[in-house]
Amino acid sequence: MSNMIINVKVTDLKPGQVIGETIFDKHGRPLLCKGVKLTPSHITRLLARDYIEYVKIEIPYEEASKGIIKPAESIKNIPPIVHQKLGQFFKKARHIDRLEEKAVEELADDIHPLIETIFSSEPSILDNLQLLSGHDDHTHEHSWTVMLISLSTLRAAEILGIYRPTEEDKNSLAMGAVLHDIGKTKIPLKVLNKPGKLSPEEWQLMQQHVTFGYQMVKDTPNLMPLSKAVVAHHHRFLDGSGYSAQGVQDLESIPNHVRIVTIADIYDAIVSERPYHVAALPYHALKILYQGADKRFDKRFIDALSHAVAPFPMGCFLLYKDGILAQVEEIPKKEKDNPVVRIIGTFTEKYTHLLGKTFSFQNPPMGLPTEDTLLLGSYSPMGLADKTKGALSLGKVRKDLLGTEEPSNLYVLRSFDDILHKAFSFLFASKEKEEQPAKS
Ligand SMILES: [Fe+2]
Ligand SMILES: [Fe+2]
Repeated sequence: MSNMIINVKVTDLKPGQVIGETIFDKHGRPLLCKGVKLTPSHITRLLARDYIEYVKIEIPYEEASKGIIKPAESIKNIPPIVHQKLGQFFKKARHIDRLEEKAVEELADDIHPLIETIFSSEPSILDNLQLLSGHDDHTHEHSWTVMLISLSTLRAAEILGIYRPTEEDKNSLAMGAVLHDIGKTKIPLKVLNKPGKLSPEEWQLMQQHVTFGYQMVKDTPNLMPLSKAVVAHHHRFLDGSGYSAQGVQDLESIPNHVRIVTIADIYDAIVSERPYHVAALPYHALKILYQGADKRFDKRFIDALSHAVAPFPMGCFLLYKDGILAQVEEIPKKEKDNPVVRIIGTFTEKYTHLLGKTFSFQNPPMGLPTEDTLLLGSYSPMGLADKTKGALSLGKVRKDLLGTEEPSNLYVLRSFDDILHKAFSFLFASKEKEEQPAKS
C-alpha cells in the first residue's frame, strides 16, 4: 500500500522513522534529506534546534490507521519561520500594554508572503490545520491557524464570486485575525489553560480578553481600523448576541472582516484537540456552523469556508448509527465532500456481512449506511472511542449508538483488530468488573 506523510512533533520522533520532506535549518541549508532513516543522533540534533517543532515523516498507510494519524499541514510554501516568529511575538505581548508601530510593521512584513501564497494559487484545501493547535502556547497556535483559515475563506469567497477583496482587505483581515486574541496574553495562564469548565468569575475574566486586546491596539496608528474592529468584535454575532470590547463604539453592522474571523475562530475551536475535548472532524464543525447560518453567522462565508476545507481527512474514523464503524479510505480529487469509506467494524453480528465493504459516502448502495446516519467522527480510533464515551455519558441511547444495549463483542476487520478492541475496551471492561465479584 502507498505511504503517507504525517507531521510528528520533534519530541515524539523515534529512531527508524523515515523523513518525508527535507528539513532545512534557519538559513535554508538542508539538515536531513527526504528518505533518510532517523538515528538517535539525528533526533538529538533536531531537538537541539528549538525552531524546529514538527518534522514530516513518511509512514505506510496501514500505520496511519493504527491511530497515529496526524496529517501534514497542507498549505504549501509557508515558511515555518513566520510561524516561529509569531511565537516570539506572543511571548513579548505578555509584557506590553500597547502594540508598537514597529511590531505591526514587522508582523505585516512577515505575513505578506503568506497572503501572496494563498491568493496566487488555487485555494489550498485546508484539511489538517488542526494539528497546529493543541499546543502549550495555545494563543499563538490558534492565532496562526485562525489567520490561515480566515485568509483561505476570503480567497474562496473571491473565487466563488461572493466578495471581491482589495489588497487592503487582505492585509487588514490577516492582521485582525492574527491579533484577534492578543488580549488573551493578559489573562492569567492558570485560567487560560484550565482543563475543565471555567467558573462564572473565570468566564467573565476570559470574556474580557476582547477589552484587553482592544486597549492594546486602539492607539496603534498603523493598524487599520478594520483590524482593530476584529479584535474588539470577533465575539459579536450577526443577531446581536455575544460580546464586544468595553469602551468601543457600537457597530451599525458587523464588517465582513469580523464575520470571517468569527467563523474561522469557532471553526478552529471545534476542530482542535484541547485538554477538555477531542477534535471534531471539519464535516461536523461545518454542520455546527450551518446551524447558525444567517442567525449568528454570515452564511456566505460558511459557504466559502466549506469550499476551502476538506470535510473528511484521509484515514479518519466514523461511527454510524447502529454501531457501524468505518474509515475514510480515499478522497477523490474532484469530490472532496464525497470520500470512499470502508466498513471496518460493528458491535452486532447482524452487520458482519458488511465488513470490508467500500462505498461512496454520499451515494451508498442499498443496505450500506447513509450520510444522515453518521453520528461521530474522529482522527483516530481512540478519539472516536472517547467521543462515543462522551455521547453515552450525555445520555445518548446505547442502542442507537452501538446497535445493541449490551455489546458482547466487537467484530472487526483483521488489520484493525488490536487498535479497535483496545479503543473500545471501556464498553466491555465494566461488564467484566461486574462479573468478577460473582466469581469470587
Ligand atoms: Fe477571542
Ligand atoms: Fe480566538
